[in-house]
Amino acid sequence: MEKPKYRVALLGLGNRGWSHLAGFIANEEQFELSAVCSSSGDKLQTVKNRYAGCLTYSDAEQMLAEVRPDVFCFATPPSVRLSLVKLAARYGVKAIAMEKPIANSMQETREIGRLIREHGIQTVVCHQHKYLSSFQKLKQFVQSGDIGDIVRIHGKTRGWLYNSGTHFVDYMLWINGGIKADWVTGHVHGKDKLDDSHPSPAYALGELHFANGVTGIIECGYLSPSYLPSDRFWTDNRLTVYGTHGYAWAETDGRWGAFTRHSGGQILEGQEALWSPAVKDAIQADYTSDLADWMNDPGRLHACNFEISEHGYDILYGICASSLDHARIDLPLPQELNEDIIERMKRELRD
Ligand SMILES: NC(=O)c1ccc[n+]([C@@H]2O[C@H](COP(=O)([O-])OP(=O)(O)OC[C@H]3O[C@@H](n4cnc5c(N)ncnc54)[C@H](O)[C@@H]3O)[C@@H](O)[C@H]2O)c1
Repeated sequence: MEKPKYRVALLGLGNRGWSHLAGFIANEEQFELSAVCSSSGDKLQTVKNRYAGCLTYSDAEQMLAEVRPDVFCFATPPSVRLSLVKLAARYGVKAIAMEKPIANSMQETREIGRLIREHGIQTVVCHQHKYLSSFQKLKQFVQSGDIGDIVRIHGKTRGWLYNSGTHFVDYMLWINGGIKADWVTGHVHGKDKLDDSHPSPAYALGELHFANGVTGIIECGYLSPSYLPSDRFWTDNRLTVYGTHGYAWAETDGRWGAFTRHSGGQILEGQEALWSPAVKDAIQADYTSDLADWMNDPGRLHACNFEISEHGYDILYGICASSLDHARIDLPLPQELNEDIIERMKRELRD
């Protein structure tokens, strides 16, 4: 049976916008790039020259009203996510592909969740590193039973909480089979990233307890251990899984390692391709292909579905709240949370 082809409207042609565009083009049997919106006339011209038939716009609402796409993809700053989800709901899109983090506040995140559920919009949030070969290798070690049952998971990233931490909490949930956390404790400090475009404490350390008894630790920011030279700052990240019979880890820069019940007392190590534009495009293509599969068959839940990202957002919030309240934070958090945790950190964290 012939599969449907979904019409895509894309907003934003910055660093990530081009990646999403490449992901749709790599899956042209399943997606048609119908329209692109940007404030840059030059970039729109480049798109026109490369992709005949793709319409170009400088106003997102006009694009959605005229094109009525199946998929609305936006690769824009987190501060404008909610307004775009409102547009998506107004113009009846079937799917949203958005960038991380979901938003800059819990209130906006909750409102986005309410809108996409109310309108039945299949939504993915781009935590795409799980498609890297190093991460897939890690998943094989875990799923094969080579390291036994998972006991503890450690995510660490040099980037700050709501920038890269949103990725790493997502990968911790993913490697644990999507099982959610039921409580979290945390420590945060450092005010210098609270006015960033991704407002965050400069350092965050969280202890997570998952519903299956697995525990985890996440470290985000300048005090998290560094394994790579400073020019690889954005790929200086590692996900490690400790099991009853060994451990395995993967980095976003392609390295992986494992000590397993079959490794004969040795530590196995490998290097997949270093992070590069080609790697970035390859994983984006796989991520995008899975979106078509999910749209074709709602039973094939996308690995980056909104619900898992929303839970990750609750965990990150819980780490901050635990630190400020000196208390364990139980999850899920109440739906009606009105506290602006960033404003609170601005008031309460030491300079
Ligand atoms: N998934 C990943 O690996 C990854 C990597 C880097 C960045 N990101 C995320 O992607 C998002 C975009 O980051 P980027 O690096 O592409 O940024 P960028 O600055 O390169 O691009 C942002 C784009 O959004 C547009 N834009 C800005 N303000 C807007 C507004 N008010 N309305 C509409 N469009 C607006 C800009 O014109 C630009 O085209 C951020 O949320 C960031 O966290 C994700």
